Amino acid sequence: VTKIPHNRPSLGVREANAASRVIESGWVANGHETMAFEAELAAFVGLDPANVLVTTSGSAALFLCFRTSSRQVNQVVIPTYGCSAPADAAVLAGFNIDYLDSSPTSVIPTWDTDYSDTSIRVLIDLFGIPSTIPPSRRCVTVADAAQSFGAVAAGIPTPLRGDIGIVSFSPTKIMTVGGYGGAIFSTNTDSIVAARDFRDWDGRTDALRRFNLTPGDTSSAIGRVQLARMPELIEKRQSVLASYLTEGIPILKPNTDYIGSGYRAIVEQPNAEVRVQELQKLGVQAILPYSSSEMIGRGLKESPNALAWSERLLSLPIFPDMTKRETGQVINAWHATSKLTDR
Ligand SMILES: Cc1ncc(COP(=O)(O)O)c(C=O)c1O
Repeated sequence: VTKIPHNRPSLGVREANAASRVIESGWVANGHETMAFEAELAAFVGLDPANVLVTTSGSAALFLCFRTSSRQVNQVVIPTYGCSAPADAAVLAGFNIDYLDSSPTSVIPTWDTDYSDTSIRVLIDLFGIPSTIPPSRRCVTVADAAQSFGAVAAGIPTPLRGDIGIVSFSPTKIMTVGGYGGAIFSTNTDSIVAARDFRDWDGRTDALRRFNLTPGDTSSAIGRVQLARMPELIEKRQSVLASYLTEGIPILKPNTDYIGSGYRAIVEQPNAEVRVQELQKLGVQAILPYSSSEMIGRGLKESPNALAWSERLLSLPIFPDMTKRETGQVINAWHATSKLTDR
């Protein structure tokens, strides 16, 4: 059997040509490609270039949001279920974290508390599905759209739903810069000015401490190609999801108000680990999206629902360049293992 990876970036001749163009130009530092990338990202979500900043990773983008917040913050609220990047960034920025458990009926937590004006809450769009959050006039909302770039929630591009939003361009994400990268979006230009000031450390003369989180032109040039391909990349993911659904795989999907990014194909399944092992025997690299051990030290003890979700969610392969044959193999393997795991 052919091995089908869980995920694979869609990089080809256009991306390679863009990288060559930059290398041949002799200028690989932060320059006009990076400026153009920011302007094109802004246009993609309907903002001005002054409302976008590119960074070396999604984690760096989160760190900048926390570190350069204009508010006096003493608490960051982060869901337990999910990757460690938001918590890592908050700790690096010097904050204490309050963890929020998932709900028993949904892996996405219910944000029913309004936090104080010294709090930041981090909205995370798990698996590319835009999550909902009640508006707050008090606390700061950071929209972590690392997994949902390209998705739209009630007419609004997902990184624009909070006071400030971030995306990731790492190789496993919706689009990549051919390595690690990220961006910050905000309709509040001052937030972007503050983050840019912290990121651009070189040659400064005011004795303030900053940090280099600036990407170079090679990655920005690759990012520009991928950004232009976003409609194609999302459509291809959506078509894999549609095949899975048509063939009876019960994929978790956004409700009808929302257009997801098709980032992950997630199924709820008791004892997901057993099914993952069975699928792997058939060449299908399914995974547990987040295992409980990844959440150790991140509120796991106080989050019984997150723990339960970590054992009953499974992620099937999905990537833009998946062939019909590969999709068919996943579907067949799914049905073959249904018999095994239903017994
Ligand atoms: C929800 C979420 N936030 C932040 C990140 C961090 O992004 P990066 O890997 O670009 O640092 C990731 C990806 O790892 C993520 O899934």
